[in-house]
Amino acid sequence: MSTHTTDLWYKDAVIYELPLKSFYDSNDDGIGDFRGAIDKLDYLEELGVTAVWLLPFFPSPLKDDGYDIADYYTVNPIYGTLDDFREFVAGAKRRGIRVIIELVINHTSDQHPWFKRAKEAPEGSSFRNFYVWSRSADKYEGVRIIFKDFEDSNWTWDPEIEQYYWHRFYHHQPDLNFDNPEVRLEIFKIIDYWADFGVDGFRLDAIPYLFEREGTSCENVPETHAFLKELRAHIERKHGGEIMLLAEANMWPKDSAAYFGEGDECHMNFHFPLMPRLYMALKRHHRQDIVDILDETPEIPSVCQWATFLRNHDELTLEMVTEMDRWFMWEEYAENHQARINLGIRLRLARLMDGSRRKMELMNSLLFSMPGTPVLYYGDEIGMGDNCYLNDRDGVRTPMQWNANLNAGFSNANPQELYLPVVIDPEFNYRTINVEVQEKRHRSMLQWMRKMIGIYKDHPALRSGDMQLLFPANERILAYIRSCPSETVLVVANLSYKPEVVELDLSEYAGRSTREMIYETPFPQITDRPFLLTLGAYGFYWLQID
Ligand code: NOJ
Ligand code: CA
Repeated sequence: MSTHTTDLWYKDAVIYELPLKSFYDSNDDGIGDFRGAIDKLDYLEELGVTAVWLLPFFPSPLKDDGYDIADYYTVNPIYGTLDDFREFVAGAKRRGIRVIIELVINHTSDQHPWFKRAKEAPEGSSFRNFYVWSRSADKYEGVRIIFKDFEDSNWTWDPEIEQYYWHRFYHHQPDLNFDNPEVRLEIFKIIDYWADFGVDGFRLDAIPYLFEREGTSCENVPETHAFLKELRAHIERKHGGEIMLLAEANMWPKDSAAYFGEGDECHMNFHFPLMPRLYMALKRHHRQDIVDILDETPEIPSVCQWATFLRNHDELTLEMVTEMDRWFMWEEYAENHQARINLGIRLRLARLMDGSRRKMELMNSLLFSMPGTPVLYYGDEIGMGDNCYLNDRDGVRTPMQWNANLNAGFSNANPQELYLPVVIDPEFNYRTINVEVQEKRHRSMLQWMRKMIGIYKDHPALRSGDMQLLFPANERILAYIRSCPSETVLVVANLSYKPEVVELDLSEYAGRSTREMIYETPFPQITDRPFLLTLGAYGFYWLQID
């Protein structure tokens, strides 16, 4: 157990995933940037988020949207300067918004000077061994390929030095060799550099793949956990206990929870397996998938927290479901084969929910009421659409839709100059789905999201309460109690496409009254008898038990 007393700010934050490129363009070159994001900090404050997670903003050939880093120590000029970054951080902090940045350490771009240097350095030298080389592609046989629509091996032949190099992602992203102590030292230096700017946290990209070991899947090996413990100790020693580490470990709950260590590795960790099961339950009109995965989710150290999410900048990953469930998801949510990519679906929440406000609200109500810190994906707060005809995962990375004007108000550039086109799909056209329209409408999705975030922030039971699942006979209903010493909240969600009736055994709360939390409507008093509720199709209640 870590000895440091940490400020646990991340345990009840609302995190907004913010790709600079897509948010707001301040200089009309068609690419979003830091100055643009600074201009939109008021919007984020009003939305109510308490942290932003910035996607990679470092110099990069951008063949994987910046997850291919060519220089760890500065800002890509298309996004601005280090001073702009500094100003963004200061502006965010003034508004009570913390800043999490991306730390991509598993690999670099093949344009990184370390890779060029490695190729020039003599075999066996430390410089050469910054990366993982082999004379044969048979090494680490059987390790799965992640970008399976794009790569057919984890080894790529380098004709110049006549060896293969190892990469878990694109071939232009060689994996760093963590067995080399010099590499590990470089990583510490990078962390120290950005920590000194006052960043509040790091998302650790692709963290299970740091070390390779023959005869294993090369994922989650003990050496990776040992390194994370060292990294955490280093950060606490140098920067105190407030910097949060958020692991991207797309793994089964038990393997994933291992990244918390004993409270001495990462503070947070995405709950990857829960996410697709929320979608599965909605199509099966049945709670079992969700119940099972919660059941499989181990207890975690008290200073740790899951990060929960509905969508992000990648495909909706189906890595953590069975083969049968994967096909179920593809058939149900990606009838259009163009929407399928790797082991997932490249669509946004709004399209997955058929543009249905009710379904989007139901999914968000689960996100905000289940244990874990919610992470929102930019644009989902207005029900933004997507474009799966764009390359790779670009279809969920299109410009933020601010208004009905040129380029959705994102940029004044020539529309042909935009980094990606705005969404003009008839169903999700930016002319109707945009911030300005929704600011004006009292009952818009945006206003609803603001309200939900506000309620989440006002209620400790939703943020950090214990969860107790209820098991009413009607299995189309998911129901649970969140409770903390100061309050008790009952959550009831109808996963069915039709109205449902449910009877809940709440006899332990007999005599207490209930109140709906969004509109503050008084609800019936609890008695010894079953507590009866009716719910509309995809309806839900958050009831405070007074
Ligand atoms: C995970 C990131 O979320 C994804 O966008 C990226 O392509 C890979 N890691 C490789 O860095
Ligand atoms: Ca710009």
